[in-house]
Amino acid sequence: MRFPDGFQWGVSTSSFQIEGGADDDGRGASIWDTYCAAPGKVANGDTGRVACDHYHRWAEDLDLIAGLGARIYRFSIMWGRVLPEGVGATNPKGLDFYDRLVDGMLERGLKPWPCLYHWDLPQALQDRGGWTNRDSAGWFADYAALMAGRLADRVENWVTFNEPSVSAWVGHEEGRHAPGLTDPRAAARAAHHINLSHGRAVAVLRDLSPGKGIGFVLPVHKGRTLPQFQERDAHLIRLYEDKWNGVFLDPVYKGRYPDSVLDRMAEHIRPGDMEEINRPVDFLGVNHYFPTYLLPSEEPASWPFRFAEPPKYMRRTEMGWAIDGDAFREVLMILKDEYGNPPVHVTENGGAFIDVAGPDGRVDDQDRIAYYRDYLTGMGRAIAAGADVRSFMPWSLLDNFEWARGYAKRFGLVHVDFQTQKRTPKASYRFMQQVIANNALPSG
Ligand code: FCB
Repeated sequence: MRFPDGFQWGVSTSSFQIEGGADDDGRGASIWDTYCAAPGKVANGDTGRVACDHYHRWAEDLDLIAGLGARIYRFSIMWGRVLPEGVGATNPKGLDFYDRLVDGMLERGLKPWPCLYHWDLPQALQDRGGWTNRDSAGWFADYAALMAGRLADRVENWVTFNEPSVSAWVGHEEGRHAPGLTDPRAAARAAHHINLSHGRAVAVLRDLSPGKGIGFVLPVHKGRTLPQFQERDAHLIRLYEDKWNGVFLDPVYKGRYPDSVLDRMAEHIRPGDMEEINRPVDFLGVNHYFPTYLLPSEEPASWPFRFAEPPKYMRRTEMGWAIDGDAFREVLMILKDEYGNPPVHVTENGGAFIDVAGPDGRVDDQDRIAYYRDYLTGMGRAIAAGADVRSFMPWSLLDNFEWARGYAKRFGLVHVDFQTQKRTPKASYRFMQQVIANNALPSG
């Protein structure tokens, strides 16, 4: 399978998952520092204090990206590193770090794609209500302006938010991520304010960073049924996809919330909000990992569906996520058929597997290679069927802090020994090198 001429390859990471340097140079605390410190929230008591020590080892990490042959680097900026209180006084050393990092990318021929928000909200802002506070839109716009003022001359594309759905629903309703709330109404409110923050930031970046691309990143989901699912429950699939996709896609691409969720969103909307959120964007970043299997909720619940285990015959990753490259194809086709075929960049895709390092530190991760073959095939089929997909960025460059699952779940193309911080490219790194060099899947 070959990919179109001009198809681009990159790689993704995020600040809290790799940077570490928690006490360095005036970095402010984030909601994830707080969440990690709360007993029982993160597996093994892991924290982001050291992570991959990327704050000090960034040059080596950029070399690994260049060595892959990737040309796009989607990284994220830690808001509290540049604005320790979230608003007000800036931290010059934090700004200098991202300056050096971006210069380092350009020196290596990498195109910088900064993401302004990959979940690490300054704790000082959470203390003021975080995303449930409508003022968050103003806080975020000011932060976007600060970063545009500093980096606009060198970035290629801006990403406002990574996975706003996860911040809203997992962080505020399910409580499995920071800030750890379990309040459905607060979650809907946070979702709307994140959308509004996105819209405000688009306006700011258009103004201060003319000619650069602007988009946001969503994990676009496909709901699936199980044999015990009843025909009368078919609407639950739609509702699930409206919750996870439509709440974030529809305001941007269609100027409204899906009808099925309007009753939950309406109380948070003020006149003019939908117009602000509806500002044109240049691309959609798509993260995709797994199809979701659904069953009706058994007990009265905030939503009438619940997550079910995938069917037994499906292969799964170490996260328990079903492996299904065809669901990825379907997701890309939903965007083509229901959202006007926007330019799509695949900003994350990958799998966690048990990676056993040999004596030389090498990891022969054939299961990860098989995963990428399956998903790249799904993507190739969607492109052949007309989906406007322009790039692919594996998640992730390095094994890193996998949120509530800690360091045990490894997604990297490069193995990290967290005792010594030694980096060792895995077999999947060599595989991806070949894919990128040939712009095609090697025959296997
Ligand atoms: C995505 C996140 C990313 C990473 C992968 C496995 O939801 O954006 O940070 O944790 O999942």
